[in-house]
Amino acid sequence: MIIAIDGPAASGKGTLARRLATHFELHHLDTGLTYRAVAAALLANGLPLGDEQVAIDVARNLDLAKMDKSVLSAHEIGEAASRIAVLGGLREELVNLQKRFASTPPGAVLDGRDIGTVVCPDADVKLFVTASAEARARRRTDEMASKGQEAVFASVLDDLKRRDERDSTRSVAPMKIADDAHLLDTTEMDIETAFQSAVDIVANARKN
Ligand code: CDP
Repeated sequence: MIIAIDGPAASGKGTLARRLATHFELHHLDTGLTYRAVAAALLANGLPLGDEQVAIDVARNLDLAKMDKSVLSAHEIGEAASRIAVLGGLREELVNLQKRFASTPPGAVLDGRDIGTVVCPDADVKLFVTASAEARARRRTDEMASKGQEAVFASVLDDLKRRDERDSTRSVAPMKIADDAHLLDTTEMDIETAFQSAVDIVANARKN
């Protein structure tokens, strides 16, 4: 059983993916963390973000079990992740790792930008989770503030829009809605309502 969840930054896909994995007793992989982990290693070692071979070498040594979300969620790491995510060879390396994860029984929920289109095109259920840019920026600002980080709504909104633009216009594996994905717009939903809608979609898809 594979559930593919895609969507833009701060759409709520990560929380939904985690909760669906617990609910359906599946493994969970936040694939954004794999791009973030490579970006963080490059930044920490003063290595360039545009050198594909260097990024591939870092990706080959990536240990999924050691990715620490609390460290990797830093804003500048997200920005760097989106910049290295345009490198085709790096994506190939990370996608192979993600596919291996997905094939481990009893199955998994993966969330990212290209899960339904590239990583798991045969997933049993595909969700594309979205929300207006303003709603997403509000959530990200609140999330940062709750962690004691400085967050200005207008600049968070600008950053999100810039990242959405880069992620959806890149030539390799751009973020897009798979033809057979269910669209879940969470602009007007709290997380509980969004979760219930997602559970209903998955449960229905399983029946068919
Ligand atoms: O949590 P947030 O949406 O801010 O970002 P993320 O999911 O951790 O992803 C960080 C960056 O990695 C994104 O902006 C994408 O450029 C890239 N990414 C990707 O290209 N493909 C994926 N499957 C996941 C993330």
